[in-house]
Amino acid sequence: MKKEITVNNERFVLYLSETKIQTRVKQLGRQINKEYKGRVPVFIGVLNGSFIFLADLIRHITIDCEMDFMKLSSYGDAKISSGNIKMLKELNCDITDRDVIIVEDIVDSGLSVDFIIKLIGQHNPRSFKVISLLYKKDALKVEVPIQYVGFQIPNHFVIGYGLDYAQKVRNLRGIYRLADEHS
Ligand code: PRP
Repeated sequence: MKKEITVNNERFVLYLSETKIQTRVKQLGRQINKEYKGRVPVFIGVLNGSFIFLADLIRHITIDCEMDFMKLSSYGDAKISSGNIKMLKELNCDITDRDVIIVEDIVDSGLSVDFIIKLIGQHNPRSFKVISLLYKKDALKVEVPIQYVGFQIPNHFVIGYGLDYAQKVRNLRGIYRLADEHS
């Protein structure tokens, strides 16, 4: 696995290796299996970023489960959230009375998850939790409850494993951070 890469003329360094990510994803899957035993949770992936995390997580789930996807747009191609959230794809399934688990790749300002929590709440699910592979606590602009966190990270700009830089590099197996930032 490369320790350093260049994307859009900017240098990125390896931050979370494939092994580290996979070990943590497996742990999270096992935890969910235990906590949701006897129930049939609906995993809701927030596109696009969560697709790789969700795909890996779901293959550690051994209880019955369902999945669906929703798509918001807030960032466009910028590094910083615009805070202007649009709904690009709504849910297809009925989540009333269901045990819902929202799957995010990253919680940054928290604005996306906040938007989703309010939206899901209107559908009266039986229960509702959020799992995010990455959680930037220092970047939060709004307090959001995240029940399952893969890695809590400082305010780095990170890419790979589903996270893009101007839509590229989602296919990287590891997570890389911008090398020359001052945070
Ligand atoms: C990213 C990420 C989260 C959101 C987190 O999505 O996948 O959904 O931003 O940021 P926030 O906590 O500041 O709201 P983005 O809108 O970049 O779309 P993408 O998943 O298609 O890359």
